[in-house]
Amino acid sequence: MQGEVNEFKPLIVAFCCNWCSYAGADLAGSSRLSYPADVKIIRVPCSCRVNPLFILRAFQRGADGVIICGCHPGDCHYTTGNYYARRRMTVLFRLLEFMGIDRQRVRVEWVSAAEGAKFALVMNEFAGAVKALGENVKLGDLRCKP
Ligand code: FES
Repeated sequence: MQGEVNEFKPLIVAFCCNWCSYAGADLAGSSRLSYPADVKIIRVPCSCRVNPLFILRAFQRGADGVIICGCHPGDCHYTTGNYYARRRMTVLFRLLEFMGIDRQRVRVEWVSAAEGAKFALVMNEFAGAVKALGENVKLGDLRCKP
């Protein structure tokens, strides 16, 4: 049958800082720019609020990809939060490599409140990249399976 309904749709968790990226997502929405509905946005006060364990937990709970979006370097509402986030994520990427999780499943992007188009573009592009990788099987907690 054409248009098979069982097409793989990756579940993406997007941590967005309140001050820039979440506003960028809002702008994308109000500008009617589309991005996959399977991108689940979690609003955080700042990108530095994202503990690397949140990302591992997201994979455990069934995420296929995780993206952290924050203000551009130098524009963080809390001055240096995104610098901390960037350093933490650099360490996390090494850990993911060690754990055998494809590094391409996690991404860090800086999206300002005025960049609704960039937000939509980044989400579409990331969802496409994760879709190409297929379903994430690492860290999956069987208790979290539907
Ligand atoms: Fe946006 Fe810190 S408030 S990254």
